[in-house]
Amino acid sequence: MLPTQSGGPGTFARLDLTRVQTPCYVVDEEKIRSNLLILREIGDRSGARFLLALKAFSMWALAPLVKDYLDGCCASGLWEARLARDKEFVSRSKDQVLSTFAPAYRQNELEEICALSDHLIFNQPSAYGVEIARKAGCSVGLRINPELSLGLDPKYDPCAENSRLGYPLSRLKEAELSGFDGLHFHTLCEQSFAPLLQTWKKVEKNLGALLHHFKWINLGGGHHCTRGDYERDELVHLISEISNRYNVQVYLEPGEAVALDAGVLVGEVLDVIPGEKSHALLDLSATCHAPDVIEAPYRPALLGEVEHGGHEYHLGGASCLTADSFGTYRLPHKLNRGDHLAFLDQAHYTMVKTNTFNGVRLPSIVLWNSKTDQLSVVKEFGYEEFVNRLS
Ligand SMILES: Cc1ncc(COP(=O)(O)O)c(C=O)c1O
Repeated sequence: MLPTQSGGPGTFARLDLTRVQTPCYVVDEEKIRSNLLILREIGDRSGARFLLALKAFSMWALAPLVKDYLDGCCASGLWEARLARDKEFVSRSKDQVLSTFAPAYRQNELEEICALSDHLIFNQPSAYGVEIARKAGCSVGLRINPELSLGLDPKYDPCAENSRLGYPLSRLKEAELSGFDGLHFHTLCEQSFAPLLQTWKKVEKNLGALLHHFKWINLGGGHHCTRGDYERDELVHLISEISNRYNVQVYLEPGEAVALDAGVLVGEVLDVIPGEKSHALLDLSATCHAPDVIEAPYRPALLGEVEHGGHEYHLGGASCLTADSFGTYRLPHKLNRGDHLAFLDQAHYTMVKTNTFNGVRLPSIVLWNSKTDQLSVVKEFGYEEFVNRLS
């Protein structure tokens, strides 16, 4: 079981949960802004350019805000690249960058991906499409696998044994770099500065002077730079050193750091099954609304939970899956039908992963401004979202 990375309720301690209809995600635009500001400051001090990884957080109602602070986006393929342009996460007039990486590209999509992307990153030197992208005018990059496992869990470790992600550093030959403008590696997940430094040192030791070959180096995502204890001065120092030593533009593409602690998932207690271990049955589902709870697995923090005393409940999900549970929680008061509960740190890797298994309702998306306390429903979902995907 992985630990939650939530830094606590923050501004959400002030949110009146009875004001929203459940299920819903509530995203605090001020918290997103303060995360973006931290990234902007690191960028300004170090010269790095920050791209939002859309796979983690794609709430396009906030695209204008993201565009104001960051230098573009990174996409995982055609549809995210289209989203980035259609919803204006990336502005051509501000010299922002859309960088796309997929392990492999479909032949019938490549032309459009090239037209949308500024950077196109390939998984191996002989990947299908390298020549096409170059001719189309994209700045072409190679993703390497630094072969250094520093993560908590092999499931989230692109350097894990037999990984398909990135060309193994030990196999890379000088001749294979010809025609590549950029180097990319992504190996971290919710990590501090030390693993990045270790990874960089390995890449630098192995590639040495070959690093002068590149115009840009993309250090991927997984940097928890907006967490309170992240070593930002060290990061600024490393980025400045890389850019000066090799005369390259450094990019980082965090997803989670942009939306860290910026959203909650609010649900209602539909019923309580009393017993030695009571169950509270929610209109939320871990498997449909926060799949990482089961996939990782991890136990999300709950607003108002206590460590000792109070009343203990299994918080059960709305689907028929036996394992559809958020876990066991203690609350200072007894739960009753109609009570609202909020799981913390639910803005990233949730909305982008929802599904309607069992016909479970999708959470609506609500924007909250913690400074003005204004709430607005951005999007509600109905039966159509369920039925339209089934035939
Ligand atoms: C290639 C790549 N870049 C960036 C990211 C974003 O990572 P994170 O959200 O952990 O910062 C991911 C996440 O899986 C990724 O695969």
